[in-house]
Amino acid sequence: MDRNLGLNLARVTEAAALGAAKHYGRGDKNVADGAAVDSMRKMFDTMDINGVVVIGEGEMDEAPMLYIGEEVGLRKPDSPEVDIAVDPIDGTTATAKGLSNAIAILAMAPRGCLLHAPDMYMDKIAVGPKAKGKVDLDKSMSENLEALSKALNKDISELTVAMLDRDRHSKLITETREAGARIKMFSDGDVAAAIATCFEDSGIDIMVGSGGAPEGVIAAAALKCLGGDFQGRLLPENGEEQERCSKMGISDCSIKLTMDDLVKGNDVYFAATGISDGDLLKGVTFIEKNVAKTHSMVTRSETGTVRFIEAIHKLDKKPDYAY
Ligand code: FBP
Repeated sequence: MDRNLGLNLARVTEAAALGAAKHYGRGDKNVADGAAVDSMRKMFDTMDINGVVVIGEGEMDEAPMLYIGEEVGLRKPDSPEVDIAVDPIDGTTATAKGLSNAIAILAMAPRGCLLHAPDMYMDKIAVGPKAKGKVDLDKSMSENLEALSKALNKDISELTVAMLDRDRHSKLITETREAGARIKMFSDGDVAAAIATCFEDSGIDIMVGSGGAPEGVIAAAALKCLGGDFQGRLLPENGEEQERCSKMGISDCSIKLTMDDLVKGNDVYFAATGISDGDLLKGVTFIEKNVAKTHSMVTRSETGTVRFIEAIHKLDKKPDYAY
């Protein structure tokens, strides 16, 4: 794929973040999500791709745009055929409540390379490049912390474990504290937390716990680009969710999914734009009337180059978008 496509992906996440930011802190997550989806969808149509949404806003009958199976992009005869995974707002509640860590994200890979993860929970573990291959979803928290401590050359007491602040994590919390590591809880947005493990100055050494499976695929794409490691296991909670797994071609949900199961090959792209301030990116700021600033990152697996892009947008010059 043309490497410049990566830069254009930042336009798509910028559009989503600007759409969302207009509704930041206004208490209505559906309105914020709608504006992000609308803006992201419009910007996709400026991209020279023949894309199919494999992870998006839900099934065709549940979502008007960016639904699973929707075709996006200019779709010219020679446009590259790609899979698209989007989350126009990872952190819809955080956006509505005016909290931190909300981002607009997307991953792109050649057709057939992104797992069509059903909308259910996934158990996850994510680490940065120095700990790649050293931790395992099947190992206990204390075994993983021991291995991480060796890989990062830190005492266990110096390790910080990021985890969604959820009651379902109480066992993990106890095990982590008994092993002697610190926990950084966050209210929403486990993709940003997984990515933070790849940046030493984020202070996050590992991310564990269960969160959305679609977000798991997007995080795996990002970590593939950044040289980190990610494993996941689907957690269907009933027969209907089991059925959904089989429909997506996953016959055995109990298997551990490696980064290569989630994202095949080495031609994946990832882009993110901050909606609100977080560990990874600053959020959208409105610097004067009709002028907003965004902070984005773009990366691709083939080279591992990471670009941080600061952009100033003249909002009144883009009347077609929801911002
Ligand atoms: P959305 O904003 O897309 O709803 O996701 C936010 C999020 O925090 C994800 O980052 C995470 O994977 C998931 O929700 C966790 O789900 P739950 O809030 O049900 O624990």
